[in-house]
Amino acid sequence: MVTRNQATLADPDVDRIAVDGRQLPPPEAKHYLLVNKPRGYVTTLADPQGRPVVADLADVGARLYPVGRLDRDVEGLLLLTNDGALTHRLLHPRYALPRVYEADVEGRVAPGALGRWRRGTVLDDGPAKPVAVELVHSSAGRSRLRLTFTEGRKHEVKRYCEALGHRVVRLRRIAFGPVALGGLAPGAVRRLTPREVAALRAAVAEHAGGRRVS
Ligand code: URA
Repeated sequence: MVTRNQATLADPDVDRIAVDGRQLPPPEAKHYLLVNKPRGYVTTLADPQGRPVVADLADVGARLYPVGRLDRDVEGLLLLTNDGALTHRLLHPRYALPRVYEADVEGRVAPGALGRWRRGTVLDDGPAKPVAVELVHSSAGRSRLRLTFTEGRKHEVKRYCEALGHRVVRLRRIAFGPVALGGLAPGAVRRLTPREVAALRAAVAEHAGGRRVS
């Protein structure tokens, strides 16, 4: 039992905490899920228009929130959790967690054009520059690029590709920080492994950014 003057040293996940003799309820169990969001799903818990939502994919009996968002027509890796403190840090620009996308775009992107793709451009809400760009394949009518951004601005990947003259026809997120989508089928869900949760925590630990985030 931990009393009030000891409470600041207590770990609510381990210790039983009492305030004025009354025991606080145990903390809610934390869940960390990875879903492969299919196209057509809205990144929310409920949709007033009745469209399918990502919460439909993961029923674990707890209210889980998406870590950031993907557009309705975007597929791929989305984390869901009820760990609000970790979510806050994962999305904080301070930690600049890499988000890796595979973008199928209209038109041929020549290997010689990649310098321009890597240089960055200015979008209507400011400069944008991927930290990595790879050309996966290219034909006359279509090209696939792997682009890594470290921020979560609205429609950023689509707007970036469009600014470079190539409309996105399919977009899929394949990694978020240290967690990769791997071979998970569209619509499937899995729990993160303890190692993946630890890697996420490490990516946003104090030393990862240097300044305290509140
Ligand atoms: N960039 C986009 O354009 N859409 C997303 O959903 C995520 C990144």
